[in-house]
Amino acid sequence: MSTGYRTILVDVEDRLAVVTFNRPDKRNAIDQTMVHELHDALDGLVVDGVVEACVFTGAGDKAFIGGADIAQLKERNAIDALKTINAALFGKIEALPFPTIAAVRGYCLGGGCELAICCDLRVAGEGAKFGQPEVALGIIPAAGGTQRLPRLVGLGRAKDLVLTGRTIDAREAERIGLVNRVVPDDEVLDAAKALARQILAQGSLAVRLAKLNLNNSARTGQDSGLLLEQVSQAVLFESEEKRRRMTEFLEKRARKP
Ligand code: COA
Repeated sequence: MSTGYRTILVDVEDRLAVVTFNRPDKRNAIDQTMVHELHDALDGLVVDGVVEACVFTGAGDKAFIGGADIAQLKERNAIDALKTINAALFGKIEALPFPTIAAVRGYCLGGGCELAICCDLRVAGEGAKFGQPEVALGIIPAAGGTQRLPRLVGLGRAKDLVLTGRTIDAREAERIGLVNRVVPDDEVLDAAKALARQILAQGSLAVRLAKLNLNNSARTGQDSGLLLEQVSQAVLFESEEKRRRMTEFLEKRARKP
């Protein structure tokens, strides 16, 4: 993993990575360079094996991500669309083996909203704004947006957002399940990090297998999903961490008067 990125910043501290989209003058719009740099950085984090949770955030207070870079989108043709440039990146983010949290301040639009949905959890500032305005540009949210958004908020609400292209505020996003927590704008990053630390305090193999199972639930039929769940639990039942955590719990209770 390189560290001299032009469009992102990567900071790792005590098992937690913070990846910052860093084009604030362009509302952190995702361009081709950012796509390449994110692939490189995320591959590096996975291979290094040090990081066990990741927070994604945007530089500045105006935007998480204002969308895919419209100047570049304008030039793309059908063959480019089939290269699934953003879709492949977002699929990678969704499948990261550790939990991910989007810390959203300001605009979270188009590809930015699709990326946030690929994270496991979303913390938003009170002033955040969410939307899929692609139809206004004559395209659709095709980096997974028409598939993941309905799973998260329901088909009717997804249609309301995608067909009108309207923007909603953080409170509405929370009400429809697009966002997990709303906090004051200047507390977003700290709140996301605190949430990540709360997850990091749990059994690490259990968290990874829980994420794998939850992601899998959206992909497979219930029978194979239940099978994977059973196998995951069988693996966890044999783990050292499970024995340690359960022993600690029981010993603590036994010591109580
Ligand atoms: N792609 C490329 N550039 C973008 C961008 C995007 N998705 N979003 C913002 N920018 C650029 C603007 O072109 C502008 O660049 P300039 O200063 O060189 O002219 C700069 O970011 C600031 O944008 P501006 O519109 O002045 O900021 P704002 O705070 O008033 O509004 C947005 C922010 C995000 C609401 C507005 O820029 C916007 O509507 N962007 C497009 C959103 C969109 O359609 N996204 C889906 C794309 S598929």
